[in-house]
Amino acid sequence: MPTDPAASLFEVVLAIHIMAVVVAFGVTFAYPIMFAVAARHDPRSVPLVHRIEYTVERMLINPGLLLVLLAGIYLASKGHYWSDFFVQWGLAAVVVIGALVGAVMIPTAKRAELAATRDVAAAGDGQIVLGEEYRALLRRLTAVGTLLSLLVLVTILFMALHVGS
Ligand code: HEM
Repeated sequence: MPTDPAASLFEVVLAIHIMAVVVAFGVTFAYPIMFAVAARHDPRSVPLVHRIEYTVERMLINPGLLLVLLAGIYLASKGHYWSDFFVQWGLAAVVVIGALVGAVMIPTAKRAELAATRDVAAAGDGQIVLGEEYRALLRRLTAVGTLLSLLVLVTILFMALHVGS
């Protein structure tokens, strides 16, 4: 354990920064599995899965992203890292992730919920066929979600390597 209080505060904030990364982004890597299992084994649950998805994005990912940013600002200031590339990359990553979650993922998940709800209602007691509108929305969610996951992984790599200026 460090004895210098400033150093130990830095390490606590670093731990908070990493915890926020895990809490905010951990679940997103499981989304494709959730969507596939719901569609294959219980199509009636597909609208609920998308409701869970955008609720998680609002209640967990957005606040988590804010905590990643605030802790990152403290770390960059205390460590004098502002001119390093990994910090500028991290800032850009937070902006891109926030924009894609707010402007693409949440609205697309809501539209997917509605489209799947219509398909479930149209099937009545019969077999549910998820239509082309739903499948197109799912493709967009998967494509943008994969991009976000890759961005998070590359950012972790740059942070861990402390890629410099
Ligand atoms: C999606 C965005 C981000 C992710 C996934 C992320 C992830 C990480 C991880 C995993 C570490 C630990 C690396 C290690 O200890 O070797 C770290 C460290 C760090 N992060 Fe981030 N970060 C993000 C955004 C930011 C932002 C926006 C800033 C600054 C404004 C920032 C500043 C820092 C600093 C300065 C450190 C290094 C602390 C040290 O010297 O050990 N990060 N980040």
